[in-house]
Amino acid sequence: MRIKILRQQSPSTEPYWETFRVDDIPKDMTVAGLLEHINYNDDIADENGRKTTRIGWECSCLQGSCGACAMVINDIPALACETFIRDIKKDVITIRPLRKFPVVHDLMVDRSGIYENLKKMNMYIGEYHPAKEKDPEKKQKAHDLQYDIAKCLKCGLCLEVCPNYVNGSSFFGAVFANDCYLVSSRNDSKEKAVLKTYDKHFASTCSKSFSCMDVCPVKIRTITAMAEMNRK
Ligand code: SF4
Ligand code: FES
Repeated sequence: MRIKILRQQSPSTEPYWETFRVDDIPKDMTVAGLLEHINYNDDIADENGRKTTRIGWECSCLQGSCGACAMVINDIPALACETFIRDIKKDVITIRPLRKFPVVHDLMVDRSGIYENLKKMNMYIGEYHPAKEKDPEKKQKAHDLQYDIAKCLKCGLCLEVCPNYVNGSSFFGAVFANDCYLVSSRNDSKEKAVLKTYDKHFASTCSKSFSCMDVCPVKIRTITAMAEMNRK
């Protein structure tokens, strides 16, 4: 199988494609396993036998829980550790870094913009003020959605497919909208301010393609969170 990787040695150098050949890849291997396999030897060579350097990429949990291995695999934003070779129906695997963040090295990107936006907007739950909702059924529904949203990995895959998100712009994307729901629904004293922020940095620009929900590895229900906040 051929593996084509978009590489970039440092933020200030030009990107370039490099192709590797790996035969007999086990079908139950993931793309993360494949990258480890290529990097395993000291003598790394491209498909033409030209010596090259190890591929830079990030991982931590290797079980879909940290978001570090987010990248674009055959044009689909995905977690490398959750993408199995058996599900790739092509003879060539194309891998590139996420395009909405500055590249640090090869497949590693700088996603600190996500955290900066959350910090700037004071997006902390702070002292817990339980929601005013008294109806047990509605309360349970809110709790389920809060639990769902708290699973966000901050991987940035939702931003990769978003037609409106540009790194550094005033539109912060689905990852931000989800946190707005979490904070506003868990802290009554912050609700008003957070909903204002949500309107300014998300709702007024979102064009509702909801492609973010298609790629989210933990299937966060952004549309439900938005409906709740828009209602308020
Ligand atoms: S909402 Fe989903 S896709 Fe977006 S950062 Fe969180 S886990 Fe990743
Ligand atoms: S390494 Fe943690 S999600 Fe892939």
